[in-house]
Amino acid sequence: MCGIVGAVSMRNIVPILVQGLQRLEYRGYDSCGVAVHASSLDATRPAGLQRARSTARVAELLEQVQTDRVDGATGIAHTRWATHGAPEVHNAHPHFSHGTGDASGTPGRVALVHNGIIENHEELRAALQARGYVFTSQTDTEVIAHLVDSHYSGDLFEAVQAAVAQLHGAYAIAVMHRDEPHRVVGARAGSPLILGVGTGGGEHFLASDAMALAGVTDQIVYLEEGDLVDLQLGRYWIVGKGREALTPAQRPVRTVQAHSGAAELGPYRHYMQKEIFEQPRAISDTLEGVEGIVPELFDGADGTAAWRVFKEIDSVLILACGTSYYSGCAAKYWLEEIAGIPTQVEVASEYRYRTSVPNPRSLVVTITQSGETADTLAALRHAQSLGMQHTLTICNVATSAMVRECKLAYITRAGVEIGVASTKAFTTQLAGLFLLTLALAQSKGRLTPEQEAAHLKAMRHLPVALQAVLALEPQVISWAEDFARMENALFLGRGLHYPIALEGALKLKEISYIHAEAYPAGELKHGPLALVTSAMPVVTVAPNDALLEKLKSNMQEVRARAGVLYVLADADTRIESSEGIHVIRMPEHYGPLSPLLHVVPLQLLAYHTACARGTDVDKPRNLAKSVTVE
Ligand code: M6R
Repeated sequence: MCGIVGAVSMRNIVPILVQGLQRLEYRGYDSCGVAVHASSLDATRPAGLQRARSTARVAELLEQVQTDRVDGATGIAHTRWATHGAPEVHNAHPHFSHGTGDASGTPGRVALVHNGIIENHEELRAALQARGYVFTSQTDTEVIAHLVDSHYSGDLFEAVQAAVAQLHGAYAIAVMHRDEPHRVVGARAGSPLILGVGTGGGEHFLASDAMALAGVTDQIVYLEEGDLVDLQLGRYWIVGKGREALTPAQRPVRTVQAHSGAAELGPYRHYMQKEIFEQPRAISDTLEGVEGIVPELFDGADGTAAWRVFKEIDSVLILACGTSYYSGCAAKYWLEEIAGIPTQVEVASEYRYRTSVPNPRSLVVTITQSGETADTLAALRHAQSLGMQHTLTICNVATSAMVRECKLAYITRAGVEIGVASTKAFTTQLAGLFLLTLALAQSKGRLTPEQEAAHLKAMRHLPVALQAVLALEPQVISWAEDFARMENALFLGRGLHYPIALEGALKLKEISYIHAEAYPAGELKHGPLALVTSAMPVVTVAPNDALLEKLKSNMQEVRARAGVLYVLADADTRIESSEGIHVIRMPEHYGPLSPLLHVVPLQLLAYHTACARGTDVDKPRNLAKSVTVE
């Protein structure tokens, strides 16, 4: 999704801004741009804003700024993921204001970059047009630039404060003004924005993600909802929601580890491949320090004690999107079977808008890799507004809005995930959710010490078990050669493995663009069987569980229609390769944890199929890594 970097400095800041954009590239974008204050570096230059924008990669933007000699010590930069208006240069940020007071016709009294969506942009646009403002893009963002311009009377901070008071929707913005060469003003509501405190020369930074500032500063202030920030040389000033500019808000400066190592590909072709192979390490990091099942594992950063909450709750409501939603679907089976707790799993974007029956004794569990997904955050706030105050998140980013807004948390330690298709985040979420299941089972008196010991032993063995599954890669590659020629695929699973089939289908469609659907195998004859022909490969997740014999019958139904089966089978299932049936034998493993293992060959299948089709694996078309708009 969109990314922001901004800075006030004494040196030419353009290389740092562009490097920041490069660090945010993995989030997905379709255009990019940078604007600087020309006289901020050299006071002999005429005051004015310069910009470069491109619909190519950030690397091309860098060439463009070098050719056009765009340099300055104060600047803002952006990667755009189109929402309003096509991915064309005139829609790329930064946007300039074109006020009627700008008699020379030179664009650029105000320059602005924006993440988020402004819901009342149409009415604001009409009002501004009536006052003579001329629009050159289809974006909602340009409205904010003109709005700031319309409020400007010598103080950029005051103008931004007045402008954001008129906005409805979500935004993180960074703004400069032609007449204030050493100042950038930022504001956030609904979209993340951080302040980077410079380590020398009085410089300070803004960014939508601390990762953009890796190697520049590790001193980070996480701005809160409604905050405005004023960056000037040698000082910064934060004002909280609804406060006067004279009363600064105190926000802690945190030392945040730079993620530079994550950007190295090492021996891998793509980040997704690297991340698939990092899963044994990610799981062992996620489980590090777990000596036994104790509620304290889930205690909140503010000291909220998980054991109190666990005693009080009588059900679980899981809210999430995409892959995280599927990990929640798998957890439902564990929570109901092992902990005996009624569990509901909802797609966050649906839950937030439907009329539901709130249960104040429900534990609301949000699952999110990024911790910034707009729909999941909104669903959490919706649940809270309905009186559900017991909240817990399974999240991969300790400093994210989700962790800040939930009472309890379990931080997965997958490390930075760069590939848009989520892999190691999924398996670490499952590990966190299995621990949560055990902790809830224990607090409800449903976990004996022997059961706890057996589950924990199996969890500790997971990294080794995952290595054994990763060793199946050559066999998966031979499946991928067949899949690369297909345009459709079906995935079947039953019980705990139905969510794994869903996740396998999502992975394949995201990166190979093959249409893939997943069904609980028992549903086959209620409709999807009509699709089965020799041109429809059917992937079947077949662990040796209570439903195996039923699954075998479903497989017969496929073969009887000339469908070709690709089966992930446990050793003792007695499913053998034969005409139209390709079997990959899974290594032996602990039954309750088998979803974590069965998903891995499906990740590899999607990856190698996409490679064979030559798609952009890490940045699939139309998708973004972190979905911070609705
Ligand atoms: O950061 P989150 O876990 O909240 O993201 C949720 C989804 O956007 C994400 O899982 C998405 O479905 C991935 N592209 C799946 O690979």
